[in-house]
Amino acid sequence: MSTWTRVGNDSDIAPGGWRVVDVDGVAMLVVNVEGSFHCIEDVCTHDGGGLAGGTLCGFEVECPRHGARFDVRTGQALCAPAYQPTAVFPIKIEDGQIWVRDDRWD
Ligand code: FES
Repeated sequence: MSTWTRVGNDSDIAPGGWRVVDVDGVAMLVVNVEGSFHCIEDVCTHDGGGLAGGTLCGFEVECPRHGARFDVRTGQALCAPAYQPTAVFPIKIEDGQIWVRDDRWD
């Protein structure tokens, strides 16, 4: 069973903001959408680029390289040139702390 990794305080990531954390070698992109926190792998399935630094518009993040968009709630690729989803990870807020974990191999 994977363990939770602390990202930081929820107040550290303002609405519309994001942070990348390394969890056992996996880059995770944590975003704040109007107070709702989500976590996806910081990997664009088009060409492996990072999604961090791309435009966050509502629940969609746009890859800064070629413009593919992903839903941060589901990891679903929403437009070309990406067709495969990126991974989504569990995230929780406890006592103002953000926690994530990689449950893909649980
Ligand atoms: S690497 Fe993201 S759209 Fe190409």
